[in-house]
Amino acid sequence: MVKKILTYPNKKLNEVSKDVAEFNEELHNHLRDMKDTLDSTQGVGLASIQIGVPLNVLIIKHEGVFIEAINPVIMACSGKQTSFEGCLSIPNVNSGVERALKIHVEYYDRNGKVKYCNCDDRLSVIWQHETEHLKGGLYIDNLSKTKRKKLESIYKKANK
Ligand code: CO
Repeated sequence: MVKKILTYPNKKLNEVSKDVAEFNEELHNHLRDMKDTLDSTQGVGLASIQIGVPLNVLIIKHEGVFIEAINPVIMACSGKQTSFEGCLSIPNVNSGVERALKIHVEYYDRNGKVKYCNCDDRLSVIWQHETEHLKGGLYIDNLSKTKRKKLESIYKKANK
């Protein structure tokens, strides 16, 4: 079922998510809702908190590949890149953000099997953006004061 995506400045987006303890039908239903919701947008990733559920769950759609990640942790990162980012919870604006270039992330799949992903470039940015949501963060938290002020004023005008 397509769920409503919470938008900035909804305080719920700052909540720190908790680990999933049981890989059961409830989780699978939740993953289906998240997929339906992401598929209803042009987005490339969605964190559970964006539909109001503070669980460490995220999904990514990258080059036709669909990733479901439960309790993901970025174990290592290196290098730097500046990426252009937007967020379904901050519609109609975007900004350049400095991120790590390469990451190693570990997570569980929907059945509780351990998985990992080594990646760089765009996919690495999506992982970093989505895992930030799980900690209650947003990509705009990484901007300088001046850049953020500017973006917030554009955001207000764009979403009147
Ligand atoms: Co986002």
